[in-house]
Amino acid sequence: MSEDHLTADVLVVGSGIAGCSAALAAAREGADVLVATKAERPEDASTDWAQGGIATSRDDPEQFKRDVIEASAGTADPEAVDVLVEDANDAVRDVLLDTLDVGFDTNGEDADAATEDDDNADAETGDGAEDRKFDFAREAAHSEERILHVDASTGTHILRPFLQYLDDHERVTILEDTAALDLIAHEGRVHGVQLDRTPAGERAPTGHPAFAGATILATGGVGSLFPRSTNPAGATGDGVAMAALAGADVADMEYVQFHPTAFDPDTGAERGDAAGGDGDASERATTFLISEAVRGEGALLRNGAGERFMPEYHEDAELAPRDVVARAVQEEREATGEVVLDVSPLDFEREFPDLAAECEDRGVDWSEGIPVAPCEHFLCGGVDVDDRGRTSLDRLFAVGECARTGVHGANRLASTSLLEGLVWGLRAGEEAVGADPEPIEVPDLLDSDPALPDRFAGEKFTRLRRVMDERVGLRRDPERLRRAAAVLRRLKGEVDAYVRTRTARDLYELRNASVTALLIARAAAENPESVGCHYLVDADGEAPNEPDAEPADD
Ligand code: SIN
Repeated sequence: MSEDHLTADVLVVGSGIAGCSAALAAAREGADVLVATKAERPEDASTDWAQGGIATSRDDPEQFKRDVIEASAGTADPEAVDVLVEDANDAVRDVLLDTLDVGFDTNGEDADAATEDDDNADAETGDGAEDRKFDFAREAAHSEERILHVDASTGTHILRPFLQYLDDHERVTILEDTAALDLIAHEGRVHGVQLDRTPAGERAPTGHPAFAGATILATGGVGSLFPRSTNPAGATGDGVAMAALAGADVADMEYVQFHPTAFDPDTGAERGDAAGGDGDASERATTFLISEAVRGEGALLRNGAGERFMPEYHEDAELAPRDVVARAVQEEREATGEVVLDVSPLDFEREFPDLAAECEDRGVDWSEGIPVAPCEHFLCGGVDVDDRGRTSLDRLFAVGECARTGVHGANRLASTSLLEGLVWGLRAGEEAVGADPEPIEVPDLLDSDPALPDRFAGEKFTRLRRVMDERVGLRRDPERLRRAAAVLRRLKGEVDAYVRTRTARDLYELRNASVTALLIARAAAENPESVGCHYLVDADGEAPNEPDAEPADD
């Protein structure tokens, strides 16, 4: 047994809204909680990058449920949707308003005054006072204004106070710059996690087994498996990979959502925007999200001929479900050279001051229309969990983007990811409490050689991203999916050979990325039904930009 092991009642891996909510709920139940995050700053989680907001059910939960299910093309699990929607208002009020006092944008009217003015407001609407107070926004595929937001930086305004609150909490310890390498599992029960506390950039590993009564994965998404993503660089599929390697069930992995309106660095470069890219599609390119809320306020999509095209694709035009808009944007880019988001119908600078400032900081002239392209945004599938975040392994939970709750089905409705993280985080955190840690024998990581050829991880990552981009993207051809899975299987084999003998953090991230990429490609190759984010084209493909020659070495 390592002398150096840690113990906790509940160990949470990840520091976004889902991990924080789980930690809060467990601590409220009296548990001692460790939160481990590989980020040097715990706020470097996808939550911090979330723009649009967090949906509530306001006064019409049944309509909210219908919207979630419709956006998913009828594939969301209705029971999971019930949980999401029925917990929404209480969870938002309890954690975000009462505990953290998040300053969501208001419409200027004072809630107390509104209640005094109308004695029956609460009785009539349930949330009458708050309806008057908050500036609820609308986004694509929502049939009403129901999204709470702070400008278009909602995630930051939630996560920063959340982390501060937990940091001050006597039962919670946050370990930053601490990567989870592997689950410690024995005979179907998870006992904790092998942690690497080596400061980033240093080679000598500092391994710590951490044993816990329950382990909660909240590691976020898979953006780093694609050249362009709205996620931070740390989104390497860690939770999904570690859980799958330990034998947990995963589901819906083929449903990778692409956001229709990320800044397009290629067009940006051509027209001289400073944020333009260097044209190498396999490296992570500089892009940033232009929130769907901007379309919710009236921005229009125009092609290279200056024409508005969305009404031809869907009756809801710019507010159609995300997968529909993403494919339309891609088609129009290919047919006409570019697509821009025309923000002239709204007072962009007043309504989205943070986005206008972001564009200006990056040298993007938004008044000319913002060049946009789809890019990877969210994994709808993940580690299969029930309505309490329980996985198929004993004492292992998963919450947030790394979990598959069933809420999103084949396509997620906008502004439900923070909500899902909050609702399932609270449920899992509460459920996780009650078992004591049981330390068991584990291999000593300090025995292994940290040395790794310098460029190994970087080169393999580049190859992996190229395969995912060219074959497992927005439009998919079954034959190319099968070949992608074959290439990724070989790549994973090469990485595994190193992982058996070395303990370098970048190598484990690559291992996690290759496991997760293979799960995605395999699930996509095995699903013949074209639905939501999993959009199949035939062998002739009309998949422009795909060279005839094989891009990778299969
Ligand atoms: C956005 O602001 O467009 C993203 C919101 C989301 O993905 O839910």
